[in-house]
Amino acid sequence: MSENPSPRFFNLKIFKKLKGFKPFEPSPGVLGCFFFTVCLFLCLFLLDYRTVNKVPRLHQPSLLATWIGINGSSLSYNKSEKVDFFGKGAESCDIFDGNWVWDESYPLYESKDCNFLDEGFRCSENGRPDNFYTKWRWQPKGCNLPRFDAKTMLEKLRNRRVVFVGDSIGRNQWESLLCMLSSAVPDKSKIYEVNGNPITKHMGFLIFKFKDFNCTIEYYRAPFLVFQGRPPSGAPRNVKLTLRLDQMDWSSAQWKGADVLVFNSGHWWIYEKTIREGCYFQQGGEVDMTMNIETAYRRSISTLVDWIGHEVNMTKTHVVFRTYAPVHFRGGDWKTGGNCHLEKLPNIGSSQESLKTSFEYNTVINVLSEKQNKSKTWNLDLLNVTGMTFQRRDGHSSLYYLGPKVGPAPLHRQDCSHWCLPGVPDTWNELLYATFLKRELACAEFSKLTS
Ligand SMILES: *[C@@H]1O[C@H](CO)[C@@H](O)[C@H](O)[C@H]1NC(C)=O
Ligand SMILES: *[C@@H]1O[C@H](CO)[C@@H](O)[C@H](O)[C@H]1NC(C)=O
Ligand SMILES: *[C@@H]1O[C@H](CO)[C@@H](O)[C@H](O)[C@H]1NC(C)=O
Ligand SMILES: *[C@@H]1O[C@H](CO)[C@@H](O)[C@H](O)[C@H]1NC(C)=O
Ligand SMILES: *[C@@H]1O[C@H](CO)[C@@H](O)[C@H](O)[C@H]1NC(C)=O
Ligand SMILES: *[C@@H]1O[C@H](CO)[C@@H](O)[C@H](O)[C@H]1NC(C)=O
Repeated sequence: MSENPSPRFFNLKIFKKLKGFKPFEPSPGVLGCFFFTVCLFLCLFLLDYRTVNKVPRLHQPSLLATWIGINGSSLSYNKSEKVDFFGKGAESCDIFDGNWVWDESYPLYESKDCNFLDEGFRCSENGRPDNFYTKWRWQPKGCNLPRFDAKTMLEKLRNRRVVFVGDSIGRNQWESLLCMLSSAVPDKSKIYEVNGNPITKHMGFLIFKFKDFNCTIEYYRAPFLVFQGRPPSGAPRNVKLTLRLDQMDWSSAQWKGADVLVFNSGHWWIYEKTIREGCYFQQGGEVDMTMNIETAYRRSISTLVDWIGHEVNMTKTHVVFRTYAPVHFRGGDWKTGGNCHLEKLPNIGSSQESLKTSFEYNTVINVLSEKQNKSKTWNLDLLNVTGMTFQRRDGHSSLYYLGPKVGPAPLHRQDCSHWCLPGVPDTWNELLYATFLKRELACAEFSKLTS
């Protein structure tokens, strides 16, 4: 609790008020002020808790809930009031429209029990003192999500490949899925990287095999999705690299046969990771020195869409795009001392505002919906997580991305982009699971009809 910003603020206030009085003089003013402050703090905390937690479902009354007097009944979330994800009436349920609710049965795993995690995501082991961020479950407004069942998913993935392609936030999600799935495999030696590569700080690609299921969960690092390479001859001297906006990343030949293909992109489409590094945008043989990043990003998504249309068999491959995961730097960015380490609770504020201002989100939505409108056979699934993820300012690695021996990072070097695991990416995977099961069901029904 000592890390919580509100108590610290109030303690400071008490301290300041006390300073004006002689220490051993029992003054009603001091006592009154003290009690008033304590009451105010409790009220604010309760309010804060209730607003972020409109419909809590408390399996067992948590210590926190009991302490502030919310136990079960009136505020408790009544699950039977909502239809099941596969039930009648859930067809129109938008699983991305909902609330974060407190759930004592979470998290789904502990990081110490999972061998497949980068040190940078092991916040609790790296010294993060609170675990509130692991306790929020996503509750859609119109239906209940199926509870993640690793065994079911692995059975359905037998002899199949799941491929994640994108930046390190995609890797964050990939590692989360490895942990979620491996919880159903008692003998961890039956899960291994096929080339024997370690998971830490690896570039390129990694392929983990679940031996008993002959299934692989793969990650290909392609932060731009399109091809990055040397500039063409005759390019201006300050061009060190180019992004070929009309060509997919070199590893695309390896992804296209996957059974589940999960894309993400966005975090590298910024000035610091492109033009400032001398990386400009190229189409055909021409480097366009004046093209802005928004335009280039749009072209890259169009190229992805065309590539999927030409190269991917969408009857076989379940293609998914996970939308941008917002960052939460406050008072600066990752280079200039921005922080998020005091965030302990989600922010239910307007996520709509964040959707309006995110060009990463809007570009993807626009290009994909254009394609959807043109082609009936186009059946890409959107993991529309931007809004819900915007609310989770409390879920980042912040100071706790260095190993347990190194300890917390200095305050001006925080990670407010990546996510602690267990944590927010687990929810993306629960949504992926729901989407995946739905498609499996539709495929089964379709083949029943046609046989
Ligand atoms: C909380 O409520 C449940 C029933 O809803 C009850 O069984 C339990 O004893 C209560 N716990 C506390 C600490 O009041
Ligand atoms: C939950 O909702 C269902 C359906 O509306 C109702 O039958 C049930 O009594 C409710 N349970 C509680 C504990 O309020
Ligand atoms: C294992 O899965 C791959 C596809 O991922 C498939 O090509 C291969 O035939 C499977 N092996 C066995 C023994 O079923
Ligand atoms: C696409 O995949 C489906 C299902 O695996 C298969 O039946 C079909 O022949 C494939 N189409 C092409 C063009 O390869
Ligand atoms: C696609 O169609 C929908 C419904 O007809 C429309 O609201 C949307 O603006 C269209 N999207 C684009 C990008 O044209
Ligand atoms: C994505 O989800 C947000 C809520 O977070 C919603 O406002 C938006 O309309 C959704 N977008 C699409 C394309 O479904």
